[in-house]
Amino acid sequence: MTPQSRPGADTSQELDDLRTRAQRLPLRDKVRLLTGQSMWRTHGHDALGLRPVVLSDGPVGVRGTSEVEGETSVLFPSPSAIGATWDRDVAHETGRAFAREARDHGVDVVLAPQVNIQRTPVGGRHFECYAEDPYLTAEIGTAVVRGLQDEGVAACVKHYVANDSETDRTSYVAHVDPRTLREVYLAPFEAAVAAGAWSVMAAYNQVDDDTETAPMTAHRHLVTDVLKHELGFDGAVVSDWVATHTTAESANGGLDLVMPGPGGPWEDRLVRAVEDGLVPEAEIDDKVARLLLLARRVGALDEPARPLTDEGDLRELVRRTAARGTVVLRSDAANPVWDRPAPRSIALVGPNAVRPHVLGGGSSTVAPAHVVTPAEGLAARWPDAVLTVARGGDARRLAPRLDLAARSLPDQALQVTWLDAEGATLRKEVLAHWDGFLRDLPDAVDTVVLEADVLLDEPGDHTLEVGTVPGHMIEVDGVVVAHDPRRSGVEVILDSSINNPVGVPALVHVDAPRRVHVTASLLVTRAQGYGNLVRAELRHRVPAPSVDEEIAEAVAAAGAADLTVVVVGTNEEVESEGWDRTSLALPGRQDELVERVLDADPDAVVVVNAGAPVLLPWLDRARTVLWVWFPGQEAGHSIADVLAGAVEPAGRLPWTLPADEADVPVPHAVPVDGVVEYTDGVHVGHRAWVRSGRVPAAPFGHGLGWTTWSYDEVGPASRTPDGDAAVTVRVTNTGSRDGRETVQVYLEAPDAPAAAPVAHRDRPARWLGGFASVDVAAGESADVTLTVPRRRFEVWDTDGERWDLPAGTYRLRVGRSIDDLRLDTAVRALESTTGRE
Ligand code: BGC
Repeated sequence: MTPQSRPGADTSQELDDLRTRAQRLPLRDKVRLLTGQSMWRTHGHDALGLRPVVLSDGPVGVRGTSEVEGETSVLFPSPSAIGATWDRDVAHETGRAFAREARDHGVDVVLAPQVNIQRTPVGGRHFECYAEDPYLTAEIGTAVVRGLQDEGVAACVKHYVANDSETDRTSYVAHVDPRTLREVYLAPFEAAVAAGAWSVMAAYNQVDDDTETAPMTAHRHLVTDVLKHELGFDGAVVSDWVATHTTAESANGGLDLVMPGPGGPWEDRLVRAVEDGLVPEAEIDDKVARLLLLARRVGALDEPARPLTDEGDLRELVRRTAARGTVVLRSDAANPVWDRPAPRSIALVGPNAVRPHVLGGGSSTVAPAHVVTPAEGLAARWPDAVLTVARGGDARRLAPRLDLAARSLPDQALQVTWLDAEGATLRKEVLAHWDGFLRDLPDAVDTVVLEADVLLDEPGDHTLEVGTVPGHMIEVDGVVVAHDPRRSGVEVILDSSINNPVGVPALVHVDAPRRVHVTASLLVTRAQGYGNLVRAELRHRVPAPSVDEEIAEAVAAAGAADLTVVVVGTNEEVESEGWDRTSLALPGRQDELVERVLDADPDAVVVVNAGAPVLLPWLDRARTVLWVWFPGQEAGHSIADVLAGAVEPAGRLPWTLPADEADVPVPHAVPVDGVVEYTDGVHVGHRAWVRSGRVPAAPFGHGLGWTTWSYDEVGPASRTPDGDAAVTVRVTNTGSRDGRETVQVYLEAPDAPAAAPVAHRDRPARWLGGFASVDVAAGESADVTLTVPRRRFEVWDTDGERWDLPAGTYRLRVGRSIDDLRLDTAVRALESTTGRE
């Protein structure tokens, strides 16, 4: 094994000193520091001068600790939108902005970036990741790490490692061969460590890397041998929440901090394990030293936190980033939307026009102070236009939240009764508001009963529903509509079923206004580190026009307006942590809506509001199609900025958009007998598409922007002594407006002799080598120099456990996407380090 040292400050002496400091503490004090004090805080230690360190999610903003009533946070574009900028500076700025938010919320460690790979488009947390390519992921992820840490706030890079899908996420074994692990899934973590990341999160899943099969919270080979010793990680390894299930195994494996706390498998049990000789005390000292180093870096030990230097306007950053990351999938050269006269009338249609989906579901959720809707954005951009908004059919399965304030008697919205295990009343109160949760309930509370008298005054069929988790009895006017006696635990948080809990709809027909009595008796969910809570989403669907009627209304509006904007996409029922999707289709009847709107107005602009790929069967018909991601809190403004041409939509797809579900290289990640086999090897995402010759709807790297480009010339590639390659490319903006181009270079390997090692022969057909962006005025040309790091040419030699550079001449193909290649050059690799060729 070749030890590879981490560039940057050498902290080994500092860690030694901190270990010595740790050694002086009683064992019990040391071990206490290694489990959280609460959901988001570690323990402090007065004698050490250590204050608690505060952690918080990540990665679409900084949520805070939920300790402040009504706490709000800036909601950024989701990571796939940042990935789509292909812009290291934007990612760095985002990291710095996270740091500011962290300080505003009293947070020291942000649980971001997430550098897992978008291995399958159905992956539930696809939107939380940057790309399906390891190099793009690494470049964007490390820029976020630097941005955060430049401002003195720690990044916690997650989830280490091969946590690329959600089905059975707390238990599956990802079986990944060592080469694939190194070249694809570990690569962004390696880069983050090289960039100096201060903490890393150990994932829920297990990994079988052909050396060891263990949960990542206890994987000695990958955590201690590879991450800490070989890659030189000097920070703290933090468990994913409630992910640690063992004592000695996880402690010896290299985990440093169990979160959340109190409780979990360490505390007293770890003290005993050390006393019994199962865990060397030196392991404990090392963990404490790493936590102290983390604390020192964020200003929780010895010295106060570094002053912030970022003073940018965060709302402006969110707006600009979302607009910049917007991908123009199709653009109408003859009638570009940004060049049309200001519209006098606008039809804004589609379910996501009415309710944009600005973030995905799960732990990354933050509560923004406001969300700018598409209607607000368009109205601000074109104040004189007449704006008609039509939903065109609801794409959600679940009914909307019950408007308790409007439908209950004043000050009587919800009667809440706490009962103990014997049924005795512990507390009774009336709440004016209900946000779906009661948290932090005392242990003595066994059941909570919610009661409401709901006024139904529109004639017709109403649907009432209480969405909740197992452990409930729901009654409507005394009739039991749902009953499940099983008490739920932390699993409903880990599988995210608590986020959009299902219920049994009760249909109530109304002729004359009346009140119905809804009762929900809920067994308290005992959710370990997440506390005791109850969950009830009160839902109500009023008698309303049918989807057919709504689509007809939207089509009529489209036919009558100067400008039609149709916004379709996913929603919180579709894209979330906790589960993988089972279909890539847009939910509901949105495809039909788009087709019919295009019939009425062929110039309609289609805006796709989704984080992960969805099938767009009408793509070739539509003249203008924009992919706006989960754009964050300024959604409406960023969409309007792009439509009006105020900002160049410079986004490029960080993944491949399939045309047909049957073509997808990894269509699902359902474990078989508990194992997810990474049989696709190094041929991940677009690499597999190129290899199979299948044609996607839009390739990796695609994005047209609002102008046009010619690729004029590529100079000869040069090599630095380190083995990096550099090429200079001349591009010309051939359009009539200023633009921004992302020049991409893809590599193709030389043929390897039959006797060469497998890794030399089984290489991707083509892979990303480098990229760089450039702003160019209309009609002007620019030279862009791209670096292709040596590592992009290398393969992992599994037998020798080291990187190997297969010799020969590599083709460097330059272009606008992996399929739109315009220029060609070549470079000779240095001699093979194995000397086998
Ligand atoms: C998620 C992590 C997150 C943690 C804390 C876990 O369920 O997997 O990404 O940081 O919860 O919210």
